[in-house]
Amino acid sequence: MAEIAPRGDFMRRAKTTSRIGLLLAAAAAGCAGDPPAQPEGWDSAVALRQARDLDATEGVVEVELTARVEELELVPGKRTPAWTYDGGIPGPLLRARAGDRLIVHFRNELPAPTTIHWHGVRLPAAMDGAPGHSQPETGPGGGFTYDFIVPDAGLYWYHPHVDSAAQAGNGLYGPLLVDDPGEPAGLGDELVLVLSDIGVDEGGALADPDSGGNLGTLFGREGDLLLINGRVNPVIEARAGLRQRWRLVNAARSRYYQLAMADHRFTRIGGDGGLLEHPVQMDRILLTPGERADVLVEPRGAPGSTLSVRWVPYDRGYGTAFERPEVDAFRLHLADEPAAEDEPRPEVARAISALDTSAARRVDLKLTLQEGPGDLEMGINGVPSWKAEPLAAAVGETAVWTVENTFEFDHPFHLHGFFFQVLGADGQPSRPLEWKDTVNVPVDGTTRFVVRYDNRPGMWMFHCHILDHAEAGMMGMLHLTP
Ligand code: C2O
Ligand code: CU
Repeated sequence: MAEIAPRGDFMRRAKTTSRIGLLLAAAAAGCAGDPPAQPEGWDSAVALRQARDLDATEGVVEVELTARVEELELVPGKRTPAWTYDGGIPGPLLRARAGDRLIVHFRNELPAPTTIHWHGVRLPAAMDGAPGHSQPETGPGGGFTYDFIVPDAGLYWYHPHVDSAAQAGNGLYGPLLVDDPGEPAGLGDELVLVLSDIGVDEGGALADPDSGGNLGTLFGREGDLLLINGRVNPVIEARAGLRQRWRLVNAARSRYYQLAMADHRFTRIGGDGGLLEHPVQMDRILLTPGERADVLVEPRGAPGSTLSVRWVPYDRGYGTAFERPEVDAFRLHLADEPAAEDEPRPEVARAISALDTSAARRVDLKLTLQEGPGDLEMGINGVPSWKAEPLAAAVGETAVWTVENTFEFDHPFHLHGFFFQVLGADGQPSRPLEWKDTVNVPVDGTTRFVVRYDNRPGMWMFHCHILDHAEAGMMGMLHLTP
């Protein structure tokens, strides 16, 4: 396991605090010795509940998690019977350190069967939440204990894998943050932000999960309410000049999240599977459903002003006919005091070696739309998931997957249980190197990635993470044998 994504492999460097930096910081804080800080309660508008660790043992995180319907006020004055983990959207933040054992005592109090999939975690197949393959569905009133090691630092998330478009669309998802104790300090004040959406009508009722029929399935259903940690357009209190670190996950059923902030750039330091080989600068952050990003941002602006973090439409294939306006996803209200002088960003880099593609097995997949007997049917290589034969492979093998998109919509492709490296036009892993588990396959495009199967045999799913597409058949299985 360690070969694939070694832990603690950062080039560590002590904070480079110069004497001048310290003096400036003290002056900006207005009080010598006190480092500049975010305003009191700065993140309360988006604060997540953290699940209580029931086991005091070092290296073990043990929690209870219950799926149940809970009335939430998502539209002012209205009650929405949302589907929740522990009564909230999103579910509680589960937090562990790389190498910890995570035990989750799950109870299903929903009126339907479900499972939990731990998106991105390299766990044993039996803990992966794939119904019928790795575990039976957990029926109403039932339970299941998930028990596995979280080997790699990064932001992950959990969601159902039964009727997933409807269940995730109704509110079932939550974040799992795995810390690396060896990471450099001082990257920025951290926010874990779960980006999603939900469809509710003016009365507060949940949208019909099959709204729009086949057309709804084809586009992928997006809820009208954008939710940031379950809140609509929340306001974070910030101090200009102080670096923030956003740990973002797109948990929406179908919506792509593209975020931008006028006159600001982002430094992306990590993605799905922890830190990148080296940081990259970007003007916008694009997250397909299932993807994560770890970004640094330094808000700048007049004291007392409010900055918008905008959701910017991204054309995932429906063209201008479905163009929607930009909207605020969330805002940053800057404290009424002069900008702080932050310390320089610590070096952040990670030694990742490029996987060798030369002897790799080839896997060729086409994402397809085909004639079916009834409702709109999607598939892989012309076959919907319910008729597909699993792909066969053996542990220890390296494979290059070529995923070709044959129709007019983008598809975010997700492989369970393993990280991969996306290949560039030259057939080599793209730089900076990073570990991913979900990647966009653009309209009429082809995406290639290389994966090495470590020693975790079993059945592993892969599918489009527009969950409406997955449920319409765009899903398959990889059968890994010892
Ligand atoms: Cu988040 Cu099968 O996926
Ligand atoms: Cu799709």
